[in-house]
Amino acid sequence: MKVSIFGLGYVGAVSCACLPELGHEVVGVDINPLKVQMIGAGQSPVVEEGIDELIAAAVRAGRLRATLDLAEAVHATDVSLISVATPALANFMPDLRALDAVMRAIGEALRSKDSHHTIVIRSTVAPGTTEGRIRTLLEEAAGRAVGDRLSLVFNPEFLREGSSVADFHQPPQTIIGSIDDEGFEVMKRLYEGLPGAFVRTSVGVAESVKYLCNVFHALKIVFANEAGSVLKGCGLDGREVLDIFCRDTQLNISRVYLRPGFAFGGSCLPKEVKGFLTLARERQIQIPVLGGLLDSNQAHIDRAYEMIASAGRKPVALFGLAFKPGTDDMRDSPLVALAERLIGKGFDLAIFDSFVKVSRLLGKNKEFIDREIPHLDRLLKDSPEAALHGAEVVVIGHADAETRATIIRRAAGCRVVDLSGYADLRAASFAGYEGICW
Ligand SMILES: NC(=O)c1ccc[n+]([C@@H]2O[C@H](COP(=O)([O-])OP(=O)(O)OC[C@H]3O[C@@H](n4cnc5c(N)ncnc54)[C@H](O)[C@@H]3O)[C@@H](O)[C@H]2O)c1
Repeated sequence: MKVSIFGLGYVGAVSCACLPELGHEVVGVDINPLKVQMIGAGQSPVVEEGIDELIAAAVRAGRLRATLDLAEAVHATDVSLISVATPALANFMPDLRALDAVMRAIGEALRSKDSHHTIVIRSTVAPGTTEGRIRTLLEEAAGRAVGDRLSLVFNPEFLREGSSVADFHQPPQTIIGSIDDEGFEVMKRLYEGLPGAFVRTSVGVAESVKYLCNVFHALKIVFANEAGSVLKGCGLDGREVLDIFCRDTQLNISRVYLRPGFAFGGSCLPKEVKGFLTLARERQIQIPVLGGLLDSNQAHIDRAYEMIASAGRKPVALFGLAFKPGTDDMRDSPLVALAERLIGKGFDLAIFDSFVKVSRLLGKNKEFIDREIPHLDRLLKDSPEAALHGAEVVVIGHADAETRATIIRRAAGCRVVDLSGYADLRAASFAGYEGICW
């Protein structure tokens, strides 16, 4: 394929070095004449392991050149990768001036190019930017719409400076947010031969995944550093603890607990978080992120309450009361906290949880619920139908498949507030539906 790359910084230079290896013919474009000259002379404009040899070899083989002439590069190629800088503005949103300028200029150049052209945004932008601002600017400048000999794709870059050539060859996954089908097909051909999953999604999701990856990396570093500092205060080696912690790829370094839904609770998580915070406090160790966990969890319970209350004080059927499905343990259940709040605010509430039977409650579990919801026996119904009787708002904490089938059948006229995200409920039709994180 014939590919132009706009912006010869870390991202663009690595693409210039590696795409010729996949058999493509590449033209690099930058406003900085020195970078253009360097590529022309077979040198890398950035320092990265292995990049010099690749650029020199690609230029020698006639597969890589560079130019200051943007329009010439557009006419000479069928795909343009855009990797100009998007540095932070005062409010930390990306500064889009360079991206705007390139898109306008490419659009204008496309007015005199009839054949199909694919534009691939690789610069990091906030969710919504490509479909909104960039698409509008490009279509206006080009005088044609995406879909009319024009494709617009967002393809996030996950390379790490210092190991970017190796990262190009071993991507964690390749994510393609393409507005049109042809754009996706072009990207499949562009990256043919690279390992890893190839994922098609919407442009907004692709932009968001990139943003979220960096937020998560920052969160992991802060978690490890805060945990390590408290452990050191306890006379322990934080590195050793975290090393063993990371070996658990079932529960720790895994998808588990990374699914947006309702708040955490139960007899272990809140207790252990509070205990760890005490260890830090007693040693005067500042751990603002871990210290904010309980506030964050409470804010999530508050969000659920606001969603329910937003339509006024309508009768509510709450499904699920235990801290998770499959148990009757209600100790520190966030659904109990939500139920208490609704009762306190005067909502007419009915509850169904197939695992919770008041007559079978014992010990600490019974003490807890007697203290938090003294008249639970009056609110707790023995069937989903009974809980739904007279309800206008249905709140899904958790529910088994049979219960969900009843809700779908019987609650079509209700407004559903979904804290769980079961696929069948999301696909069903109700008078109203709102998910807590979707
Ligand atoms: N550096 C990374 O590790 C990394 C990783 C993933 C994503 N990103 C994102 O990729 C983008 C590029 O990052 P980078 O580190 O390569 O940036 P960089 O600052 O190293 O390079 C950007 C290049 O764009 C050029 N440029 C600016 N305006 C131009 C124009 N109008 N026409 C042509 N070229 C122009 C600049 O001269 C510069 O050479 C940013 O959005 C960044 O957030 C960077």
